[in-house]
Amino acid sequence: MPTMSGLDETARAIVADGKGILAADETVSTITKRLTARAIESTAERRRAYREMLFSTPDLAAFIGGVILQDETIRQDSSTGIPLIELLAGRGIIPGIKVDAGVHPLAGAPGEFVAEGLDGLRGRLEEYRELGARFAKWRAVFIIRDDGLPTAKCIHANAHALARYAALCQEQGLVPIVEPEVLMEGAHALERCEDVTGRVLQAVFNELFDARVSLEGMLLKPNMITPGQGRAGQASVQEVAEATLRALTRHVPPAVPGVVFLSGGQDPVLATQHLNAINALDGPKPWKLSFSYGRALQDEALEVWRGRREHVLAAQQAFHHRAWCDSAAALGRYSG
Ligand code: 13P
Repeated sequence: MPTMSGLDETARAIVADGKGILAADETVSTITKRLTARAIESTAERRRAYREMLFSTPDLAAFIGGVILQDETIRQDSSTGIPLIELLAGRGIIPGIKVDAGVHPLAGAPGEFVAEGLDGLRGRLEEYRELGARFAKWRAVFIIRDDGLPTAKCIHANAHALARYAALCQEQGLVPIVEPEVLMEGAHALERCEDVTGRVLQAVFNELFDARVSLEGMLLKPNMITPGQGRAGQASVQEVAEATLRALTRHVPPAVPGVVFLSGGQDPVLATQHLNAINALDGPKPWKLSFSYGRALQDEALEVWRGRREHVLAAQQAFHHRAWCDSAAALGRYSG
């Protein structure tokens, strides 16, 4: 499979030294839940103002190589009339777009989900590229449960869809971010997460290979290996780091330029510590190991902002601080 040089360059630029991704691609329904949980009314204008606050944070480009937008935001303008996507590009931050249509119950697999959105995807990618997007994201989810979930059927269905999406992205000149997320929900042990994540990653790369996706022109966005959120007695930062690197070493080809972890509901400080510990481990790490956090990058800033114009500077300071910490962690140089 030949490499695709424009895509390779974009993928590497997003994860250049000390840079990661801000996932600001919550759907209207998800961001509405986050805003209303803080007593902030969710209107299109509020959501626009919130994203503008994040994107115009001073010096952001030192820590953030790419921002993932969603359909509403990619069409919105800043308060000074510049499209938000241009505001990012003008600051040297590469804009991307969420293109899956969310997860839906998988027929014949009770309790499991498949990410949809392949129908008409080629046309949507074309439009997003014309609007200025340079990469895309598709998220699949896998649930761990004692009664045998995830099933092989669910893993296969989602891995296949991820590969079809990734091939379409590359055809349309966009870098695919391939996001298979094993959810933290449940009370399972770290070892179970490691086993399931390994099986999921193996299936995803098998499908990517069959779909002739160029690995050099993509990024992987996996979960870290942790015990379930409901498990009494959590793992140490070191245990999470070692298990995560072991899973990547076993299942992720070195041709992939970058692995950008999702935060998945981890506390922001812990997400920084985990990333730092992974990067501080000895041993071969052929990929850039960085972040593509949503909640772990935004939660502190959102808490400060609370929808108030007079809180913008303080919220930007909180966001800047967390982005700075995560950037240091992507280099294995965080000490906090
Ligand atoms: P979290 O970091 O909040 O898990 O979000 C990342 C993301 O993009 C989920 O699709």
